[in-house]
Amino acid sequence: MTQRKFTRRDFLRAAGIALGASALTCGGLGYLATLPPEFEMIDTTLGEQNIMDKKILITYATRAGSTVEIAAIIGETLSKHGFAVDVKPVSENPSLDGYQAVLMGSAIRMGSWLPEAVDFVRKNQSALNQLPTSIFTLHMLNSGDDETSRAARQAYIAPVRELLPSVNEVFFRGKLDYKTLSFFDRLIAKAVETPDNPPGDFRDWDKIRDWSQSIFPVL
Ligand SMILES: Cc1cc2nc3c(=O)[nH]c(=O)nc-3n(C[C@H](O)[C@H](O)[C@H](O)COP(=O)(O)O)c2cc1C
Repeated sequence: MTQRKFTRRDFLRAAGIALGASALTCGGLGYLATLPPEFEMIDTTLGEQNIMDKKILITYATRAGSTVEIAAIIGETLSKHGFAVDVKPVSENPSLDGYQAVLMGSAIRMGSWLPEAVDFVRKNQSALNQLPTSIFTLHMLNSGDDETSRAARQAYIAPVRELLPSVNEVFFRGKLDYKTLSFFDRLIAKAVETPDNPPGDFRDWDKIRDWSQSIFPVL
């Protein structure tokens, strides 16, 4: 089935509408409208026994928390198989020293990886290109197997691919729960909602675990 392609322009239009609405309804409270409800960021070390003698960094960028849980499951899967894993938010700007491989993930917002994730890639481009690096991307739209959806997904990560041309990549459908969004983000998400793109939790944990295992040879 061919799905409607959502482009960056659709989101920018929705953001314009949301910005206008939030300015009208919030006035001086506009800043508060951009704050999401709080959720827990994970910064942890797993699998310290390190039987593979390999230390792996999983670093992630999120706005509403669903990417954190995916980073944690990938970390748990790798650690169960003998890797030592650090899971850290990219916003902490983790150093790559001492790691033998890097997995990086970001949520898509308005057609792109989150800016802090792209900045991290830019700052660490040369090290990331020398290490085995894999990227995972969380998104809600353009999830079909048709050519249009595939091209739209690739467009999400084109700026990252340009910096890291030979990384291993995967796309996971994410989670959209209005309760976890700021007022402003809720307006944008509602503006682009369609019957074939409802909110919900579409994370496929089996696919995520399978992918985590499939990258062992790359690590
Ligand atoms: C304001 C907003 C913009 C979004 N933009 C896109 C988009 O352009 N394309 C897409 O496929 N998903 C988009 N999404 C869906 C998110 O990528 C998805 O909800 C993801 O799981 C969020 O990850 P997080 O919970 O870690 O922030 C958007 C969600 C919100 C709230």
